[in-house]
Amino acid sequence: MRILVTGGAGFIGSNFVHHLIDNTDHSVVVLDKLTYAGNLRSLDGLPDDRYEFVKGDIADAALVDELFGRVDAVVHYAAESHNDNSLHDPRPFLDTNIVGSYVLLEAARKHNIRFHHISTDEVYGDLELDDPERFTEETPYNPSSPYSSTKAGSDMLVRAWVRSFGVQATISNCSNNYGPYQHVEKFIPRQITNVLRGERPKLYGTGENVRDWIHADDHSSAVLTILEKGRIGETYLIGADGEKDNKSVVELILTQLGQSGDAYDLVNDRPGHDLRYAIDWSKLRDELGWAPRYADFEAGLAATIEWYRDHEDWWGPQKDATEARYKEQGQ
Ligand code: NAD
Ligand code: TYD
Repeated sequence: MRILVTGGAGFIGSNFVHHLIDNTDHSVVVLDKLTYAGNLRSLDGLPDDRYEFVKGDIADAALVDELFGRVDAVVHYAAESHNDNSLHDPRPFLDTNIVGSYVLLEAARKHNIRFHHISTDEVYGDLELDDPERFTEETPYNPSSPYSSTKAGSDMLVRAWVRSFGVQATISNCSNNYGPYQHVEKFIPRQITNVLRGERPKLYGTGENVRDWIHADDHSSAVLTILEKGRIGETYLIGADGEKDNKSVVELILTQLGQSGDAYDLVNDRPGHDLRYAIDWSKLRDELGWAPRYADFEAGLAATIEWYRDHEDWWGPQKDATEARYKEQGQ
């Protein structure tokens, strides 16, 4: 197959492109606007005969129409993806996550093309720290931020285009990813690169918020499984039993880098900060036979730390501007 990957120059999209090239015979067309979050260097080294890059906006209907006419399937990662940014300037989140997704769905309808929509567990809102339940495909939507509400909106559009127009789509909602090529604005790379630069990690609030971590390569293998075997119209949750509170993650980063585990700062909390996410991924396991490979979070984190240690040329140019933005917000 020739697969169109939107947002393929971003964190998870680029991991997926590498996963496809390394593990399948498919070829890839990447469509990416190269916003502040896109980095062509994340796609270095791909074979010319199986990979093409197109710079453009998913909301550009003419370009999208042309591309959908020459691929066999679409995996849609492109999004504005950072909660903190969405709290300061929501508009690009509406333009890309909602209008952009709408443009892609209209093209999927016209070309009757297989479409997989990438989404997040954040559409479900949050859980109490002591809640024995985890999110399932039946959990009601209850998003908290401009980011998660626009992702929820795009999920609803996909469901409507399946039901009303017979679009051949599936949806996956994944928990928090970590791994190589993640922008330094996000939690884990921000703290790793702070320590590598001799700065202290910054924990929002009390650091008790819990995220359910999955390695980006496990996300990629799950998406490929759904693309190949998923039932049209279905939603699949993707997770890897990786619940950790933020303070524990920072302590691990510090100790893995040879520092004292308490050498962090507590900073201003995020408004509306979701307390806890947790994913029940048994549908994906039982129906499609998928399982994660990175069962050991500490080993996956150690490998990620090594990647950032070896790739300061990749993240260095964005670090100062990112930290300047956080400083303005007292974070
Ligand atoms: P990212 O911000 O690293 O990458 C987003 C990419 O999309 C960038 O390359 C950017 O240039 C591109 N892009 C943005 N607007 C565009 C537009 N209008 N047209 C074309 N390209 C555009 O994001 P990420 O963390 O890799 O997330 C990718 C997807 O996965 C998103 O849909 C996100 O909601 C979802 N997701 C992320 C996580 C996570 O932990 N990061 C977890 C679950 C789901
Ligand atoms: P983030 O990577 O922004 O992902 P999300 O908001 O999608 O979960 O943040 C992960 C968690 O880390 C979240 O609880 C907010 C917290 N956080 C910090 O404590 N310090 C930071 O510097 C950042 C960026 C996030």
